[in-house]
This record gives sequence, C-alpha cells and structure tokens, in this order.
Amino acid sequence: DIKKGSLHPLTLTMNEAVSIFRNLGFEVALGPEMEDDWHNFGALNFPDNHPARDMQDTFYNKDYTLLRTHTSPVQIRTMLSQKNPIRMIAPGTVFRRDFDITHTPMFHQIEALVVDEADKISFANLKHVLVEFLQHMFGDVEVRFRPSFFPFTEPSAEVDISCVFCKGDGCRVCSQTGWLEVLGCGVVDENVFKAVGYENKSGYAFGLGIERFAMLIHNIGDLRSLFESDTRLLGQFK
Ligand code: PHE
Repeated sequence: DIKKGSLHPLTLTMNEAVSIFRNLGFEVALGPEMEDDWHNFGALNFPDNHPARDMQDTFYNKDYTLLRTHTSPVQIRTMLSQKNPIRMIAPGTVFRRDFDITHTPMFHQIEALVVDEADKISFANLKHVLVEFLQHMFGDVEVRFRPSFFPFTEPSAEVDISCVFCKGDGCRVCSQTGWLEVLGCGVVDENVFKAVGYENKSGYAFGLGIERFAMLIHNIGDLRSLFESDTRLLGQFK
C-alpha cells in the first residue's frame, strides 16, 4: 500500500493563478527576497517617513537590507532590466512583522505589471484582466472596484468580489456585507516611471495575497492551519 503525497493548498492556489495569467499573456518574473530600501520603498514612491518603513512593520538586517514586504520591488527590477512592452507577473514570498489570527510573518503574493507607450494602457485594460482572472479563479462572481490609495499607483483601487459563501446575501465570512476584498491595484504613478528613467509610458499594476485566495477557494477558516503541516488537512487536497 503506497501512500500518495499531495501538493500544499498554497502551492495549488499559486499554480492555478499563475496558469490563468500565463493564458492571459503574462510572463513570470522573479526577484530577490532580500531587498534594499530603494527597490522596496523609495523607487515605489513611499515618502521617507512612511509607516511601512518603520522597524515595527519591516524586518531589517544589520546592513539595512530588508526582507521585502511585498512583491512590488519586482516591478522596479523588471522595468530596469526588460524591454518594453512589459506584461509580467511576479509570484513570491513576502515578509512583515505581523503575527495574529489573520497575519503570518511570511506569506505569498502575486504581483502584475503591464507597461506600454503613453496612453496605450488604461484603467479599462486593468479592469478587463482582473474580471477575467477573478472569474476564472472563483467562478461566476461579481467584481467591484473601490477607490483606495497606494504610493506607487494613481488612481488606486481595492477590488472586492461578491461573497463566494453566501453569494452576496451577507454571512459571517463577509461580515454581512456580501463582499470580500481580494486585491489592490491601480495605474502606475508617474513618480515610479521617473524613478526608473521611463518617459512617455503608461501602465497598470496589481498585487494579491495567495493565502487569502487559498482560504476562500478551499473554505479554510484559520490562516494558521496553512502553516501547521497537519497531514489530516493537507491530505484533503489531491
Ligand atoms: N503592494 C501592495 C500590497 O502589498 C499591493 C499592490 C500592488 C497594490 C500593485 C497596487 C498595485 O499591499
């Protein structure tokens, strides 16, 4: 009797998302987990006094390199190293000084960046790709954009899907709102293009958390169970 192994639900979710983006014409780019302040913050238009730069939120090394707090620095590295047009996703591990029921100090994101000549890329292109992606991932959901803020995108939005558990009626998981927040996005800020020496370009970017997606898709209630290596849970994902 040979026991079969299985892939971790985070791996399954990551693979699924990457495969949908590849079908939408995105290429995979990778960056280092150890970053510097410029790639992780400065070039992304974070002001010097931004709270995310605080030791409370970011893991710093003695030499002031840091563990990347998001996959957005891969935007910067890709713009500096690749020819335009750019259509990339960057799956990877990120780190923040957070540890409670809904946060772990290490988690996973997928970043996306699209860049082309001025006025070629608009919020409408971003909307189209996100609706396409989210409906492949979650099935027949409604998608809603809410105005938000990120230093590196302007305008920025947070994206909600109609709750996958109650179909929008309101339940415990969606705090009775009928909506679940699933990612952040926006049009690339001019200051980011300036930082990498780009002129007359347009683009959009978005970033999403894989743990949240995995929990919604596989109906996992407690984030920590994704990191406990309990085979009774992991064995269910074959
Ligand atoms: N980097 C942001 C975060 O970690 C997500 C994001 C990426 C938002 C790209 C907008 C554009 O919260």
